[in-house]
Amino acid sequence: MTDQHRHDTRLDRFVDSYSQRTEGMRVSAVRALFSVANRPEIVSLAGGMPNIKDLPLHHIADSLAAMIETNGTKVMQYGSGQGEGVLREQIVHVMALEGITAHPDDITITAGSQQGLDLVTRIFCDPGDVVLAESPSYVGALGTFLSYQCEVVHVPTDEHGISPTALRETIDRLRAQGKRIKFLYTIPNYNNPSGVTQPWDRRLDVISVCESEGVLVVEDNPYGLLSLDADPIPAMRSADENVIYLGSFSKTFAPGFRVGWVLAPHAVREKLVLAQESATLCPPVFSQYAIADYLTNNDWRGQIDIFKDMYRARRDAMLLALAEEMPEGTTWTRPAGGFFVWVTLPEGLDTQAMLPRGVDARVAYVPGPAFYADGQGARNARLSFCFPPPDRIKTGVRRFADVVRRELEVMNTFGVSHSPTLSRPAPGPSANLT
Ligand SMILES: Cc1ncc(COP(=O)(O)O)c(C=O)c1O
Repeated sequence: MTDQHRHDTRLDRFVDSYSQRTEGMRVSAVRALFSVANRPEIVSLAGGMPNIKDLPLHHIADSLAAMIETNGTKVMQYGSGQGEGVLREQIVHVMALEGITAHPDDITITAGSQQGLDLVTRIFCDPGDVVLAESPSYVGALGTFLSYQCEVVHVPTDEHGISPTALRETIDRLRAQGKRIKFLYTIPNYNNPSGVTQPWDRRLDVISVCESEGVLVVEDNPYGLLSLDADPIPAMRSADENVIYLGSFSKTFAPGFRVGWVLAPHAVREKLVLAQESATLCPPVFSQYAIADYLTNNDWRGQIDIFKDMYRARRDAMLLALAEEMPEGTTWTRPAGGFFVWVTLPEGLDTQAMLPRGVDARVAYVPGPAFYADGQGARNARLSFCFPPPDRIKTGVRRFADVVRRELEVMNTFGVSHSPTLSRPAPGPSANLT
């Protein structure tokens, strides 16, 4: 690779040694602002961290202490590359809540579903292969696909998720260009960042297009059990055993254990285990037993209900505040679960350029372009309702609305909103965001 292609600095003495793969890894242009955003006076509607304040910590601590006392030499030892059998059996019951029938043998445990994404991309994708994704899509997945030098192509979506017609057109267009499509990556429940949920019929239509076109479906479902209005819609995997399904305990229990899983057809599962062994030897054994212990000794479904009540109050506070505060011409999604609302500002506004003014006004959000691999999303922002309490959410949305109103005034006076004070990042997702 020649120097002029590299974005790195000459001050790095290894600049000529990095793999081409590292070119797909992007530094966040807004990371500096996020460290500011953590200041207490700022309401952060940016982070997507699960709010685990209501976990029964004493009970969990006692249970883990007893587990170490009685089984320490086993739970702190290396384990199976596929993951521990006891947990895989429990995961079968977790997935049954979303209509999935599965066998523990077809499950591979991963270090969070993020590692599931990595392993799936690793076993399927060569540089230049195309991954299809919703528009917008999860920043961490886009980062993984780009780090394997895939081309991410966003499929147009509407209020019900991926448009089946647009999906077929996109596949046909890419194939006519000689491109190799490896899979469709989709988040059918409470998409991060859009909050959109695909209804059941839409799921079936998307599966049927992919089946007839020979495109694999990768379903990522970390938020499925956090349905705030109705029972969860059955997973896509429940309708088709060829769908590769990614699950996680990060949102239904706690992300720090880093335990997720991939459910895949048998042959794919074999490749996943080989990839897992070369990546980590085995997924974190202590964490797996800790989760298995939690599922055995706690009312984990009751705990999910507690989480849901807490998130529902926050979601409702955000939707009400948006309705009361946002200037005309702004629209937003109304998520039935998960953590996120996706806001679309009037034409001409630029959420990336606006962010420093937001932080000045003591509110932080994630600008839309982070969720696209191709620079779209200038008018969009992701607001998360999972963390601040309802009154802080209200304050945050009021501040956000004030900033938008001021931008609109400037635009109406001068024809453009403020000139950007942040240098524009290269298109693509920024790292370190959930
Ligand atoms: C859609 C989606 N997929 C995957 C992940 C990764 O989750 P984890 O690796 O903690 O399971 C996240 C985290 O926010 C997410 O939003």
